Amino acid sequence: MLQQSALLNVMTAAARKAARGLVRDFGEIENLQVSKKGTADFVSTADTKAEKTLVRELTKARPNFSFLLEEGGEIEGTDTSNRWIIDPLDGTTNFLHGLPHFSISIALERDGEPFAGVIYEPVSDQMFTAEKGQGAHLNNRRIRVSARKNLEESLFATGIPFAGRDGHDRYLQQLKSVMAQTSGIRRFGSAALDLAYVAAGRYEGFWETGLHPWDVAAGIVLVREAGGYVTDMAGKDGMLNSGDIIAANDLLHGTLSKILAKTASK
Ligand code: IPD
Repeated sequence: MLQQSALLNVMTAAARKAARGLVRDFGEIENLQVSKKGTADFVSTADTKAEKTLVRELTKARPNFSFLLEEGGEIEGTDTSNRWIIDPLDGTTNFLHGLPHFSISIALERDGEPFAGVIYEPVSDQMFTAEKGQGAHLNNRRIRVSARKNLEESLFATGIPFAGRDGHDRYLQQLKSVMAQTSGIRRFGSAALDLAYVAAGRYEGFWETGLHPWDVAAGIVLVREAGGYVTDMAGKDGMLNSGDIIAANDLLHGTLSKILAKTASK
């Protein structure tokens, strides 16, 4: 068992507090699902409430830090070198449809670099944590990326573009290429959890384009601290700017990147 740092204590406590409201609201979704009024407004209220709880709790503990929020945008604190990057509900579409696969994602960016990450899956009570130089953990136990190196034994996660996102044709090429060489591809609908699962060795890798910083910032720390590699599609460190990400164990990151690069140039 691990003695968690003060920083991670602050982040996990905030995540647990916000999760209580989310889980309560998720319990209502089933009833709303069949009502004519629908669930969209309800979910966006749940999302905003969770974000407010996170901002309140994190501000209490670290009053000067800045924020980048999915719902609320930028809040500049007096300390601009420390910035929380937050997705209060990653997997909104799942939540909206009553699918119990969603998460809260909190990253601390320090001097422009993802420094610490917490991704909490409230329904299954899985708390993924990582801090630069301290390793990655799931419910306080050390996690590592998988050791699989053969593509044909490997399982990958991805995000499929949807209405309003571009790159549909390119994505179909990528899918065709990856599915022909691997043991499978999953699309579960929370990019933060996809990254946390790569860190935990459940998937060998994950790729998606068109994401936002709050979808990936915490997951980047987790995968790196678990011994994996994370880059954008160009093999660089521009994930937070481009929204494109390839994360994988250390043995397959290069191979996956090459497959995706080939399809990108077609
Ligand atoms: C979404 C999820 C999903 C991914 C989408 C994201 P949201 O985030 O991470 O897995 O495919 O691209 O927008 O909207 O639920 O916070």
